[in-house]
Amino acid sequence: MADDVTPPAAPPATTPVAAPAETPVATPVAAPGEAPEEGVTVYEAVGGMPFFQRLAAAFYEGIAVDPVLLPMYPSDDMEGAQHRLTLFLAQFWGGPLTYMEERGHPMLRARHMPFPVGPTERDHWLLHMSAAVERLTPPGEVRDAMMNYFVMAAEAMRNKDD
Ligand code: HEM
Repeated sequence: MADDVTPPAAPPATTPVAAPAETPVATPVAAPGEAPEEGVTVYEAVGGMPFFQRLAAAFYEGIAVDPVLLPMYPSDDMEGAQHRLTLFLAQFWGGPLTYMEERGHPMLRARHMPFPVGPTERDHWLLHMSAAVERLTPPGEVRDAMMNYFVMAAEAMRNKDD
């Protein structure tokens, strides 16, 4: 089945990243009704990789104290997990394709199959991600775009009822 929460097949690494306007990576950051700044990706709008490093770090601070989710994560490789999430999110929002180079196609739903994700896990995950987004205080339209995506993607990752 098509992986509906990850970007379409990315161009080869040598191709300049100029995503078509309808893909998530090129989500215009202007509010509806305003003229979007042509070609500005969310990645650029938030200042690039440091934003995504801080976002993943804040998210994993929440995971570190979450009794439901923490046991699912690799205790001997939390830095690696943080690194993977950083690169995935940066790529998804229009940044470099380093995630693809390191990990291949995201296939996030398939990659989450080993972990039981029910409504409880989904909601805990979303709680930490929305707290992380709030902490970084991105522009309102970026925050809304990210939260819309995370709500949809977290539900898409659910693989059991409870
Ligand atoms: C809904 C609840 C979710 C749970 C409980 C969950 C849990 C996990 C766990 C336990 C891992 C393994 C950590 C690692 O070694 O990297 C993982 C990996 C990952 N998750 Fe999630 N996740 C959830 C949702 C999401 C969502 C919504 C996204 C993206 C928007 C996401 C993105 C990732 C990425 C990029 C990886 C690393 C994949 C790889 O390259 O191996 N997760 N997740």
